[in-house]
Amino acid sequence: MKPIVSDEGLEILFRKARTHHTWRPQPVTDEELRALYDLVKWGPTSANSSPARFLFLRTPEAKQRLKPALSPGNVEKTMSAPVTAIIATNYHFYEKMPKLFPHNPAMAENFAKNSKMAETTAYRNGTLQGGYFILAARAHGLDCGPMSGFDNAKVDAEFFPPDVKSNFLCNLGYGDESKLFPRNPRLHFDEVCKLL
Ligand SMILES: Cc1cc2nc3c(=O)[nH]c(=O)nc-3n(C[C@H](O)[C@H](O)[C@H](O)COP(=O)(O)O)c2cc1C
Repeated sequence: MKPIVSDEGLEILFRKARTHHTWRPQPVTDEELRALYDLVKWGPTSANSSPARFLFLRTPEAKQRLKPALSPGNVEKTMSAPVTAIIATNYHFYEKMPKLFPHNPAMAENFAKNSKMAETTAYRNGTLQGGYFILAARAHGLDCGPMSGFDNAKVDAEFFPPDVKSNFLCNLGYGDESKLFPRNPRLHFDEVCKLL
C-alpha cells in the first residue's frame, strides 16, 4: 500500500519524530501556536464536541506558576522549553454545542442531563485532541515533550475554573537531537493486532 502522505511526511510525523527533553535556543512564536491550533481543531471528536482546551505558557512568570506542580524529573526540561502547553479538558464542553452541533439542539441537553456520559465523552475526546496536538506540532516542524508527571490538582487550582481540568503537559520547541536517548522498540503487529 502506497501512503498518500509523502514518505518524508511520515518520517516527520511518526518514524523519526522523538520525544524531546533538551531544547535549542530557538523561540516558538505566537503565530506558530495559532497555526498549530488551526490544524488541531480539524481532528474529529464525537458529536464535534471539541472539549480540549490549550493553555500556552510562554513566559518565565507563567512557568514559575507551573513549577511547584511538576515531578522533579520534569522541572529542568519544562523550565528550559520555549513553550509548555497545558492540554486540558472542559467538562462543560456541551455549552458550546449550539455552535458546534447546530443541527441537533437536543445533544447539548443530553450531555447536561447525563454527567457520566459527559465525563466519558470529555475525557475520551480531549485526549484524542491531545494526540492530534502532538501530530499537528510535528507537522509544523516543532518537537514535543509530552508529560503526565505532575500534580493535576495543583495545576487545576492554579490555572483553571472548576469545569476545566488538566490532562497532560506538552513542552514545545526545537529539540537538541544530540541529547536524545536511544529509542525504545515498539510492539509488532502480531503482538497487538488481530484480524478477524
Ligand atoms: C501522555 C504522555 C505522558 C508522558 N509523561 C512523561 C513524563 O512525565 N516525563 C517524561 O520524561 N516523559 C514522559 N513521556 C514521554 C514518553 O516516555 C515518550 O514519549 C516515549 O517513551 C516515546 O519516546 P520516543 O517518542 O522518543 O520514541 C510521556 C509521554 C506521553 C505521550
